[in-house]
Amino acid sequence: MSTEVVNHLVVARSGTYLDATCGFGGHTEVILKKLNSDGKLIAMDQDQDAINFVEGKFTDQSRLKIIKGRFGNLKELLESNDLNFKFSGILADLGISSFQLDNAHRGFSFQNKGPLDMRMDQKTGVTAQVWINNASEDEISKVLWQFGEEKYSRKIARAIIFNRMRDQIKTTQQLTEIIVDVKKNSRSKRKQHHATKTFQAIRIYINQEIDQLEMFLNDSLDILKIGGRLCVISFHSLEDRMVKRFFRNHSRIDPNLSKLPNLSPEHLTDCKIVVKRIKPSEEEINSNPRARSAVLRVVEKVK
Ligand SMILES: C[S@@+](CC[C@H](N)C(=O)[O-])C[C@H]1O[C@@H](n2cnc3c(N)ncnc32)[C@H](O)[C@@H]1O
Repeated sequence: MSTEVVNHLVVARSGTYLDATCGFGGHTEVILKKLNSDGKLIAMDQDQDAINFVEGKFTDQSRLKIIKGRFGNLKELLESNDLNFKFSGILADLGISSFQLDNAHRGFSFQNKGPLDMRMDQKTGVTAQVWINNASEDEISKVLWQFGEEKYSRKIARAIIFNRMRDQIKTTQQLTEIIVDVKKNSRSKRKQHHATKTFQAIRIYINQEIDQLEMFLNDSLDILKIGGRLCVISFHSLEDRMVKRFFRNHSRIDPNLSKLPNLSPEHLTDCKIVVKRIKPSEEEINSNPRARSAVLRVVEKVK
């Protein structure tokens, strides 16, 4: 989907763009190819490994500036780096990268044994291990339900408390065994591993992903030029619902006002929807199964 994303994002080849989640530089590379020599790209990520990788990958790119930080603090981050631009396009490809997932020592995957860390920014916040060994049963159950829609949230939370009384839960494997033991006789979707929802929920909570997305969406329209595009790729329904609602609220006239003959400028919408919802093709899903839940939405700022 990356070519399609970049085709929607890059409205002017000499514009200034922001890749708010550069990860390992896949989209960064396609954007740079599309820009002409006057174009500029700011690439950011909160993960130091990703920043190091992207710095090594694009060594002789004067059109590219790489910064480390969280997109929830977009405006302050750009200001503190003297990057006070109005952007022609902003891209956020949410969630975690394959590199983060596949790297056992980051603790994101129930398929690889590693320490329960799960922080995307390894220097910020508490690890999943600290949280899971200290949170109350109620708190754990709420997080699993709210961010993972895990039907067994209460039973898993109870099992976590029971197990941690004997021994600290330190690894992804220990946590996975606890979850599998609770769900082994359940009839939950066969295609999905028993631990998928719990791991997703803990990761979202530890990285404050929902708050980050909300702050990012609110900031992004202020730093976008008129005619500029905001492209967001999300990977689970919680994020996608937020993006969809935000885009709809900014592109639809308040139904109570829409029947008035003359609308004053402040009641006109500030965005128009360019892409309502695009999913990856069958072909892409076959070559990269992790892309199957991706959803792209795009708006253009019109006011
Ligand atoms: C799906 S990957 C992006 C992959 C990237 N587009 C590529 O082509 O390689 C998501 C990236 O977003 C980063 N990320 C997630 N939340 C973030 C946040 N609040 N601020 C900055 N980066 C974030 C993660 O660290 C991860 O590297």
